[in-house]
Amino acid sequence: MKILIIGVNGFIGNALTEKILKNTNWEVYGMDLSDNRLEQSLKDSRFHFLEGDVAINKEWIEYHVKKCDVVLPLVAIATPISYVREPLRVFELDFEENLKIVRACVRYGKRVIFPSTSEVYGMCQDKEFSEDTSPLVYGPISMQRWIYACSKQLMDRVIWAYGVQKNLRFTLIRPFNWIGPKLDSLTTPKEGSSRVVTQFISNLVNGKPIQLVNGGHQKRAFTYLDDGIDCLMKIIKNENNVCDKQIFNIGNPHNECSVKELAKKLRDLYSKHPLKAQKKASPIQTVNEKSYYGQGYEDIAYRMPSIKKAKTLLGWTPKVDLDTSLQKTLDYFLKEFHSK
Ligand code: UGA
Repeated sequence: MKILIIGVNGFIGNALTEKILKNTNWEVYGMDLSDNRLEQSLKDSRFHFLEGDVAINKEWIEYHVKKCDVVLPLVAIATPISYVREPLRVFELDFEENLKIVRACVRYGKRVIFPSTSEVYGMCQDKEFSEDTSPLVYGPISMQRWIYACSKQLMDRVIWAYGVQKNLRFTLIRPFNWIGPKLDSLTTPKEGSSRVVTQFISNLVNGKPIQLVNGGHQKRAFTYLDDGIDCLMKIIKNENNVCDKQIFNIGNPHNECSVKELAKKLRDLYSKHPLKAQKKASPIQTVNEKSYYGQGYEDIAYRMPSIKKAKTLLGWTPKVDLDTSLQKTLDYFLKEFHSK
């Protein structure tokens, strides 16, 4: 099988590529702006990489959509501060550029696996969010944070419609706060430019205070990268075509924790770590959401996935608990920090 991954150097793309090359005989064709996370994969003759930009290298993309069996358009801006500061860039990349790739899949009759997001559920009031029944709830237009969820949701709807009207074979995946090695980068220390786990690790390493937005009562269910990738592999394999025209939450409901608990857990793990960079553990402070992110930010109080569909249709269950997930993520970043 030939797999095309646009955004192959990203958090999901590089881990998926490594797994494919290790566990299958498939070929991977990948494009991204850089290859700094692909060291392992670049050594493999079944990996074909182009350094390129999704908005420029259109012919390469078209040619490879035609050539490959499955397409994963993984290019996206996925850090909340960007939704508030650069909403148009989010729309242009996450929606407009990806739409072109999806349309190429329709033209050439190729299967597409599109990364939707846990954010599409927004401020949904369901206890747990279900792919086929939960409402998708956003705030007013002036709350620019929702442009990401809205762009992703619109793409979900367009893909769904292509499935109905043009018989596009698709699967929509919704990762719930995946964490692990190579999530963001500690060298982008700007507050809010990383997802929460990397942000907190960066604060610890640099001896800066950990900031809890609005006191950190909001909750997330964190999913370890390896679990997420295992699920994605099953979706790519698609035995008996069970994934066609389906949406899957990929999350770990057992790993729910408040942001405040997360800060404490990370600080404890860090203070016991042999590779810690600071003698004193960072203080934990509370900060207001508008001063941290800006006027257009609105938060999500909780985000709990129902994973019944992935369990029944794919036979998948996540295995890595929260403490282990945090430990492994911290180990990776501290090793990386010391090797530079
Ligand atoms: C994330 C991002 O939108 C995407 O990466 C993705 O689509 C999705 O959710 C996901 O990973 O499933 P969110 O969970 O709000 O959204 O993003 P984080 O930046 O990881 O923030 C989590 C929570 O921690 C938020 O409530 C935020 O306000 C809080 N936070 C973040 C802090 O309290 N302090 C910080 O320094 C950073």
